[in-house]
Amino acid sequence: MSNPQDTFYSGLQQTLDQLRDQGLYKPERVLASRQGAEVMSEDGRTLINMCANNYLGLSGQEWVAQASIDATEKYGYGLSSVRFICGTQTVHKQLEQAISKFLGTEDTILYAAAFDANGGVFEPLFDENDAIISDALNHASIIDGIRLCKAARFRYAHNDMADLERQLQAAADKRHKIIVTDGVFSMDGTIAQLDKIVELAEKYGALVMIDECHASGFMGKTGRGTHEHHNVIGKIDIITGTLGKALGGAMGGFTSGRKEVIEMLRQKSRPYLFSNTLAPSIAGASLAVLERLSSSTELRDRLHENTAYFRQEIERIGFTIKPGTHPVVPVMLFDAPVAQKFAARMYELGVLLSGFFYPVVPMGQARVRVQLSAAHTRAQLDTVLKAFEQAGRELGLLKN
Ligand SMILES: Cc1ncc(COP(=O)(O)O)c(C=O)c1O
Repeated sequence: MSNPQDTFYSGLQQTLDQLRDQGLYKPERVLASRQGAEVMSEDGRTLINMCANNYLGLSGQEWVAQASIDATEKYGYGLSSVRFICGTQTVHKQLEQAISKFLGTEDTILYAAAFDANGGVFEPLFDENDAIISDALNHASIIDGIRLCKAARFRYAHNDMADLERQLQAAADKRHKIIVTDGVFSMDGTIAQLDKIVELAEKYGALVMIDECHASGFMGKTGRGTHEHHNVIGKIDIITGTLGKALGGAMGGFTSGRKEVIEMLRQKSRPYLFSNTLAPSIAGASLAVLERLSSSTELRDRLHENTAYFRQEIERIGFTIKPGTHPVVPVMLFDAPVAQKFAARMYELGVLLSGFFYPVVPMGQARVRVQLSAAHTRAQLDTVLKAFEQAGRELGLLKN
């Protein structure tokens, strides 16, 4: 008889083999350079990078790296403490104030990641008397955060305002209700209909929370986010977001909102209370990023120009994309093996892209997801478009 330790490890191996067989295994690509519009792969190839969340192109920038070095020199490498014991420095308070000012909220609390912000936001604020009404395609961290909370759960069909209204009616007898949505859904680049959501929230007396990981820094006229895009600044109760994408790209997250909410999270939110403070290097660099973004919309404007150009040209070549305006551009290939083959061919042609297929996206909706950056030059985008055209022709995928 095999012993339980052996069966444990052989069981894991079997599951890993199955993932490989089903094409669901996620290998890690190793870069030998900074993050940027161009990266170097481990084997020394230069690739144009079209799959980072580096929307404003800040991840590999010298001045951001220098701001983090300056903060390290001033505040040291780390705190060896949670925030409330001896892990809060002036740079953390300054960053919390800067985020609040940028988003138009009263106060902000920092976390080690947006995953923690979402994981720790519900349980301290809501209990079994309350209802959380969540978009069916919300990010995994929202789903996990809701699971940790005793509130009643209601799920509305993705981006479906009629179903949201039905769920609000179903939750009518609950004390407090909160509607929760990603501001932007990263698989499709879909922007949540926040104007309508706020209207429904007002009608049914609900609060609204948005996850702005794919919006903070570049959505809206001055980059404040989806609430600015939909002209509902001041009408959103809770905003969560990341420092690990557009706002510099290192790591870190935040929750922002009314001061009572933030004060309660500081007292009760478990990922905040029981986890180390954000490194001062990240806090200092994020502060420098927010200062830059508050004084100029240049990067945000360049990103949107790049996005409009790419969306127009990729359709002209003969590819089908999901319509929209967000820098996430899903180029639809529909068939999973085709998407894999296409991404592999693009890699050979010097373009880094990721293919997505079931179960990450619905069956028959396989795609490569392009993510534009302010760092992309027009020449780089033209090179990428040429590669799309060549690979598309070779695989017989063009409509034209
Ligand atoms: C919508 C959304 N929420 C939360 C997260 C988690 O962000 P972080 O990397 O800061 O934990 C992500 C990142 O993938 C995301 O896309």
